[in-house]
Amino acid sequence: MWWARAMDLGLAGAAVCVQGGSKGMGRAAARRFAADGARIVILARDRAGIDEAVAELDGLGAAEAWGVSMDLLDPATIDAAFSEIGDRWGELNTLVNAAGPGSNLTTFDQIPDREWAEAFELGALSAARCTRAALPLLRAAEWARVVNVSAHSTKRQTATLAAYTAAKAAMTSISKNMSLALGPEEILVNTVSPGSFASEGFKTGMRMMAADRDLDPDDLYDCMEWIRQDFGHPAHLPRAGDPDEIGPVIAFVGSRLNSYMTGANINVDGGSDFT
Ligand SMILES: NC(=O)c1ccc[n+]([C@@H]2O[C@H](COP(=O)([O-])OP(=O)(O)OC[C@H]3O[C@@H](n4cnc5c(N)ncnc54)[C@H](OP(=O)(O)O)[C@@H]3O)[C@@H](O)[C@H]2O)c1
Repeated sequence: MWWARAMDLGLAGAAVCVQGGSKGMGRAAARRFAADGARIVILARDRAGIDEAVAELDGLGAAEAWGVSMDLLDPATIDAAFSEIGDRWGELNTLVNAAGPGSNLTTFDQIPDREWAEAFELGALSAARCTRAALPLLRAAEWARVVNVSAHSTKRQTATLAAYTAAKAAMTSISKNMSLALGPEEILVNTVSPGSFASEGFKTGMRMMAADRDLDPDDLYDCMEWIRQDFGHPAHLPRAGDPDEIGPVIAFVGSRLNSYMTGANINVDGGSDFT
């Protein structure tokens, strides 16, 4: 990858945790952290996916790579994961909260309470819980950053994404609040808001919803065409993003090189924020 070591982010030996790091944008961020020689732990549910990602991170030059199988919807497994990280490292420089909820693609009046609750649990509360569990480790580190991955769709409503966008808006708000609360300790907290990215989760959704159309999930232009047809989110660029186009942004925001940006919400969306 041409971008590996393109800029020294000051991450060599840094202790980094990426929740949702086995796939998609979380994994792309983990790749960049690995290429910069960081120590990385990824959190996700599926053990096979974790093992595959860890092998890739090792190959890219991570100082150390390992993963914990856990479920962000189960708070006990969050606490257990960070306890394990504490036992192993005793500190954490960077926490990336990258996992997010899906959507059942119905309007707000059709979403049962259980699904509203799950969207908020995974889309907002899991980031707060992980950051809270990580705090003693972030405080123990020489420098510390938190990156929360939200969504551009909080600014452009789609009728069938009600719970998803509400949960992501809550995450963005919590992120700003964390930045304020942790500012005096110089723990920097920022949000990165992706537009349309052809991640594993994205492609799975496209395969299901656009199976009857002549659109290829591996073609970034077709991906944006699907978004245009089904969600109406236009962008300045004519294609979706590749996760490796946002991974380096997340890594920079979560790096030592970012030393004065906090409380920000950074759009990486091909120009789809028209507010
Ligand atoms: N893709 C887009 O176009 C887009 C646009 C805007 C915002 N976003 C947001 O960006 C973030 C990354 O999205 P993505 O599309 O790159 O994701 P993805 O490809 O679907 O990957 C999701 C990751 O989160 C993990 N995960 C999901 N549920 C989990 C749970 N309950 N407990 C633990 N880990 C869990 C998954 O692993 P396991 O399945 O093994 O648990 C995987 O590592 C999400 O927050 C998403 O909402 C995405």
